[in-house]
Order: sequence, then structure tokens, then C-alpha cells
Amino acid sequence: MPRSADVPIPDSPQSPYPVTTEFCDIVCGFGRGSSELGIPTANVLFEQMPKAVESLPFGVFFGFARLKEVNEGSTKTLRRPDGSNVNFNFGQSLSDEEMQVWPVVLSIGLNPFYQNDTKTVELHILHKFGHDFYGAKVKFNILGYIRPELDYTTKEALIQDINIDIKIATKTLLKPEYRAYNKL
Ligand SMILES: Cc1cc2nc3c(=O)[nH]c(=O)nc-3n(C[C@H](O)[C@H](O)[C@H](O)COP(=O)(O)O)c2cc1C
Repeated sequence: MPRSADVPIPDSPQSPYPVTTEFCDIVCGFGRGSSELGIPTANVLFEQMPKAVESLPFGVFFGFARLKEVNEGSTKTLRRPDGSNVNFNFGQSLSDEEMQVWPVVLSIGLNPFYQNDTKTVELHILHKFGHDFYGAKVKFNILGYIRPELDYTTKEALIQDINIDIKIATKTLLKPEYRAYNKL
């Protein structure tokens, strides 16, 4: 059942898609994706996005993503503004399988549910990873738009909608016209 905010998805990516990034840094968000929502997200910096991303509406998109480790030598622990620690392992525990191309759903915007004041780009890669990979790099493409970002009265409603986004993305990315873009 389509939701009222869903935008029809064409049979193949249409301009301005695909939008493809270079490898960009995975930074630390607020950490709520994993801890509160059970939906871990990799945050990347808006400044590292290609120019085309500036013209995209705020909302939820899908595409493919590939991770790469960074040879930093050692791990680092950084402290979030809320005092919690984040372990940066630069993706050194990623296996070859985990560094393949995976489907991704991503959110670009201000996360009205959490009232962020800066734009974020967050990727939820559709694979179960064995570890976090803060400090690794990720290259991805955006192949289409699912819906605008919305405000929610409950966390559960946000989680439910993200799970629908995941279903829509998974189904669409299996189509040959979209799957053709899984080379990054
Ligand atoms: C596919 C997807 C859809 C999302 N949709 C919304 C949305 O409609 N509204 C919203 O406020 N946040 C949305 N979010 C963002 C979550 O609120 C976000 O992942 C959460 O704030 C965790 O952020 P953090 O990792 O910076 O803590 C979405 C995230 C993903 C991955």
C-alpha cells in the first residue's frame, strides 16, 4: 500500500539520477540511529557531497554503496557532545564480503523528528555488519527518491516508515534497470 507521501518510482533512474559520490569519510552522528532506533546509519559530511546533492530535496533516497577501510595504523576514541565515546576503527575489521557493493537507503535533511539544525546525510546500508566502521570511507550513488522527510509523533512511527523505505528500496534495486548501477 503506497503511503500518501510516497513519490512514484520510475522504471529506471531518471535525471538528475544517478548522482555518484567519491569515497567520503564516515563521521560520527549523534548515535541515535543505532541506540534508539535499532537502525544504524553511517553519517557523511555534506561538504564532501557532489554539487548535484545540493539541489536534491530533503528526504529519503536509495542506491548502492561500497565501504573501504582506511589504513590509519591505530584506532581512536572520540567523545560525542553528550559525553558518550565513539571508537574509530577506520573500517579495519571489515571483511572482503562487507566491502562489496550493498543496497542502501539514505536520508538527507534536518531529521525533523530530532530537530537537528545542520543538514545531515545518513546511510543505512542494507547488510548486517559485524562491527561499527567509524572512520572508514564510503562511496555511493543515489538512484531515486522515495519520500520527503517527515516529522513523527513517536519513534515507533519513524521506525515503521524506515522499514517501508527499506522494502521499497530493496524491491526497486532488484530491477535490472537499477541493478545495472551496482558497480562502484
Ligand atoms: C531511510 C531513512 C529515513 C529516515 N527518515 C526520516 C524522517 O522522515 N524524519 C526524520 O526526522 N528522520 C528520518 N531519518 C533519520 C533518523 O531520524 C536518523 O537516522 C536518526 O536521527 C539517527 O541519527 P544519528 O545517527 O545522527 O543519531 C531517516 C533515516 C533513514 C536511514
